Amino acid sequence: MAPMTRSRSDNKGNVATALTAEYYAQRATAGLLITEGTFVSSKAVGFINVPAIYTEAQIEGWKLVTEAVHKQDGKIFAQLWHVGRLSHPDLHNGELPHAPSAINPHSQAYTQNGFVDTVTPKEMTIEDIQQTIRDFKNAAANAVKAGFDGVELHTANGYLFHQFFTGCSNQRTDEYGGSIENRARILFETLDALKGVIDHNRVGVRFNPSAHNLFGIFVDELTIPTFEYIIRKLNDYGLAYIHLTEPFTDVTNVPFAVKEVAKHFRPMYNGTLIINKGFNKESATKVIEESYADLVAFGVPFLANPDLVKRLERDAPLNTPDPKTFYTTGTVGYTDYPALTM
Ligand SMILES: Cc1cc2nc3c(=O)[nH]c(=O)nc-3n(C[C@H](O)[C@H](O)[C@H](O)COP(=O)(O)O)c2cc1C
Repeated sequence: MAPMTRSRSDNKGNVATALTAEYYAQRATAGLLITEGTFVSSKAVGFINVPAIYTEAQIEGWKLVTEAVHKQDGKIFAQLWHVGRLSHPDLHNGELPHAPSAINPHSQAYTQNGFVDTVTPKEMTIEDIQQTIRDFKNAAANAVKAGFDGVELHTANGYLFHQFFTGCSNQRTDEYGGSIENRARILFETLDALKGVIDHNRVGVRFNPSAHNLFGIFVDELTIPTFEYIIRKLNDYGLAYIHLTEPFTDVTNVPFAVKEVAKHFRPMYNGTLIINKGFNKESATKVIEESYADLVAFGVPFLANPDLVKRLERDAPLNTPDPKTFYTTGTVGYTDYPALTM
């Protein structure tokens, strides 16, 4: 199951609850559940009501989730998240969000006041970057304490790491900007830091290489070579997997974008490759048979079908997802999608 923000932690400490546990346990037949993005620190926050993973109470909340999933013999990784500039001062006591460079993504953040326009963020100092790396290390240690089977670094969809990888959001002139190696540096420093708290064979990394005109990100001539460099280098890291998404929008006419992500990157990576975005049983079977991926992640189909695996096995009809309740609070559109009765 692909990571999906569901915003049900509308409690004071943004803690995962028994309801969160019920939602994931309902879906435990997935070979691997990847949680919604969970914030690694208060500075990482970019949405309200997201269960985070930097306080003791939050660790206790996630324990409910991992125990419920393990009881059903499921496996679950926590997706570790920092939104960078895709945030707003309303979520940071009036302070600016952090980003590689002071460039407004001209996007929106979801705050206690609803959707609000993003602002020009603060350019991170070297110390801010080092602190962020420590925050990821701490969050990974917290994930282990909470009983997760592993963690996935959210380095996709225009959030902090993606902002470092891409020229439109990173115009730094120090060792974290400019060359491909410099744009990628924060990821490898984070992976090195994680070594102290979790084996790399329990760490996955997620990328959306052809994201374009989305999340404030634009593909340029260095974007795909940057992902190629990163993915090749990850061969040396012995990760659990890399998790790629096909383009979220039609990039047929976008110069420099890769149109078929799995096909493009498969030859560069020796380890386990998960592919995601828009798959159904037929296309998922095909991509595996063609050896462009080892595993397929399903997002929205899993959101609306707690027993997706059974339904795919039986070619049973699927429930219809209701986008109006993707990010609302409570049980409606969360834990009330029906399972097959037989
Ligand atoms: C409600 C919702 C929330 C999402 N939240 C996240 C998230 O927290 N982290 C992430 O990496 N992707 C997130 N995504 C993207 C999904 O993981 C996935 O890439 C997308 O839904 C496409 O896959 P699908 O066609 O199988 O649904 C989200 C998608 C949806 C629909």
